[in-house]
Amino acid sequence: MSSKMKAWICNEYGNPADVLQLNPDVAVPNLKEDQVLISNSCASSVSKMKAWVYDEYGNSQDILKLDADVPVPNLEEDQVLIKVVAAALNPVDDKRMLGLFKLTDTPLPTVPGYDVAGVVEKVGSQVKNLKVGDEVYGDINEKALDHPKENGSLAEYTAVEEKLLALKPKVLSFTEAASLPLAIETAYQGLERSGFSAGKSILVLGGAGGVGTLVIQLAKYVFGASKVAATSSTGKLDFIKSLGTDLAIDYTKENFEDLPEKFDVVFDTVGQCDKALKAIKEGGNVVAIIGSVKPPASLFVVTSNGSVLEKLNPYLESGKVKAVLDPKGPFPFSHAVEAFSHLQTGRAIGKVVIHPIP
Ligand SMILES: NC(=O)c1ccc[n+]([C@@H]2O[C@H](COP(=O)([O-])OP(=O)(O)OC[C@H]3O[C@@H](n4cnc5c(N)ncnc54)[C@H](OP(=O)(O)O)[C@@H]3O)[C@@H](O)[C@H]2O)c1
Repeated sequence: MSSKMKAWICNEYGNPADVLQLNPDVAVPNLKEDQVLISNSCASSVSKMKAWVYDEYGNSQDILKLDADVPVPNLEEDQVLIKVVAAALNPVDDKRMLGLFKLTDTPLPTVPGYDVAGVVEKVGSQVKNLKVGDEVYGDINEKALDHPKENGSLAEYTAVEEKLLALKPKVLSFTEAASLPLAIETAYQGLERSGFSAGKSILVLGGAGGVGTLVIQLAKYVFGASKVAATSSTGKLDFIKSLGTDLAIDYTKENFEDLPEKFDVVFDTVGQCDKALKAIKEGGNVVAIIGSVKPPASLFVVTSNGSVLEKLNPYLESGKVKAVLDPKGPFPFSHAVEAFSHLQTGRAIGKVVIHPIP
């Protein structure tokens, strides 16, 4: 979107006929965290937008370019056009950019970004519930690795199927909302898949990461875990305890698989299946989202689904489950490459978010 707009302004008090002047060069107001920008002109009249784009596979530092002339995506019947307010990064963005999924990827060029929070600007003819002005959030790619969209969320606009979205909980900022979809849906689907239920114990490998922080909270406050254990490095032990971890294990000092205590479920976000299998009780289960696995462990890939967000919205509204934002962020849109560099360290705490956009 342009940074200038037409507006009627007056520089002195007086009769409107005398003092009102049409100025085509007024700065578009800056957005505060709790505000939305409302436009009197329909987005359909905006045909170009700013977006981060790559047209070859490689490292984000080498290939990601800011382009001010990207076509606003066309809307399909079941989609809404979102004016993006905040977007979050995920390791899958980075792996896709490196070309690790090129066999099932959409042809280049690509605007990266799975997670979005923003305002509905336009609705397709088959959209049933969402309307212009709704504040929404979601993971824009139903299948993370199977032909994800060429127009992702690191842009001023993105087009998304209504079924992948939910209304943003009012208590959450756009930055907080953008941090959640892919990670919280992964956490929820993994817990369901493992057969997790009230009264069971769980060990979360990678408790401080984007997914791990949410597995800890969902296991404890949504599923009713009897005990939550989680691994992290020394400096993050207090942090994972603050999320609801009962037993915080410093993986730099202790081998969790050698502890006498065993668990009903291990949720592996690190890729340590062999060790995880040694930490379950007889009849226990390992669910993994990365690495290679062997039975009874299972590996799965998240499916984006707005109804999971709707189900979890009451826990977010009540504050029982909280968005966890990496303290180095949010990164402004112009600093997306730095944000990717931070994610690539593998040391991020919770989620790395891009805001404001643009
Ligand atoms: N299959 C799926 O559907 C799916 C969905 C989402 C994510 N994933 C994958 O799952 C992995 C995790 O994703 P994410 O978003 O949570 O990543 P992330 O946010 O980048 O994870 C960073 C965190 O990992 C922790 N960590 C690194 N090595 C560790 C270890 N050996 N033990 C314990 N913690 C460790 C770090 O804490 P310390 O500094 O304390 O080590 C850091 O806080 C990624 O590979 C991602 O691609 C898969």
